[in-house]
Amino acid sequence: MKQPLLTVEDLTVEFQTRAGIVQVLDRINLTLHKGETLAVVGESGSGKSVGAFSIMGILDPAARIRSGSIRFDGMDLLTSSAGDLNTVRGREMAMIFQSPATALNPIRKVGQQIEDVLRRHGPVTRREARRRAVEALAQVRIPDPERRYHAYPFELSGGLCQRVMIAIALCCQPRLLIADEPTTGLDVTTQAAIMDLVRDLGRERNMATMLITHDLALAAQYADRIMVMHAGQVVETAPTDALFSQAAHPYTAGLMKATPTEASSLDELKAIPGSLPDLKGSLPPCRFAGRCERRESRCDDPGLALAAVGTDDLHRVACRRPL
Ligand SMILES: Nc1ncnc2c1ncn2[C@@H]1O[C@H](COP(=O)(O)OP(=O)(O)O)[C@@H](O)[C@H]1O
Ligand SMILES: [Mg+2]
Repeated sequence: MKQPLLTVEDLTVEFQTRAGIVQVLDRINLTLHKGETLAVVGESGSGKSVGAFSIMGILDPAARIRSGSIRFDGMDLLTSSAGDLNTVRGREMAMIFQSPATALNPIRKVGQQIEDVLRRHGPVTRREARRRAVEALAQVRIPDPERRYHAYPFELSGGLCQRVMIAIALCCQPRLLIADEPTTGLDVTTQAAIMDLVRDLGRERNMATMLITHDLALAAQYADRIMVMHAGQVVETAPTDALFSQAAHPYTAGLMKATPTEASSLDELKAIPGSLPDLKGSLPPCRFAGRCERRESRCDDPGLALAAVGTDDLHRVACRRPL
């Protein structure tokens, strides 16, 4: 198989807080290939954003990477020089954040904000920057981009602001796009339009996309593969079809039951019992055990790791009693 564009191995991240050490990510493993869309799903608080921030190198100063490696196109991001990292993280990877309202500068025209990014990445003439900014607005299908260039964020709808964010992320032609809950807070129609746009642009550019979402239905629709996280652990990872036809982890199965589909009626919806465990102090090998109906004494044995489900090496689950 081809070399992955992004490889995360055994990444463990903790936060030093006043209440003690919080173990936020526990030996995370993932790979992402060129042109592929990987969805990372899990309840709020499961560590999806901290994972993304680790890859982008924008972790909170209170965070500490305890162990593991992150490689992008063969380069080790945790040990490379600051100069090398700037090229890769600024230009070849880009991220769209959840809230465009806070990520955009409120007192600068949106077109200028795109130009600022272009200039940071290399010398461009004023005219060229202007032309490329308008082009970037057009590429994210913003109507009348010449006029919208002059708009301030508050003059645009949430959907248009999110398109500007995407334009900013994509204007330097990154090879990896991390979209962290890119459509949360938008209405359903705008949500679909934004997701279609991200998918189409990804295909046009053969870009790898990591789509972070708490919405399994959204992941089902847009991702080639899905990785399910619970309380800082990867519990299951599989090609999208395999995950939906044969969920192996009780948490994945629970998430599916909790996700409304067109077919299911409201009374079939079932929330997952319990809540995420407290990540302070010592934690059991399986962080889902406390919420799991299938729990047995062997679930508390150490050494839990992802293992292939049946003969499909792409479908892996971290569970002693998979479904
Ligand atoms: N700066 C921080 N200090 C302490 N804990 C943090 C910090 N940032 C995130 N966390 C904790 O890390 C966990 C994962 O958070 P996050 O990655 O934001 O979850 P998600 O994106 O899946 O909703 C949560 O328990 C959260 O409280
Ligand atoms: Mg998040």
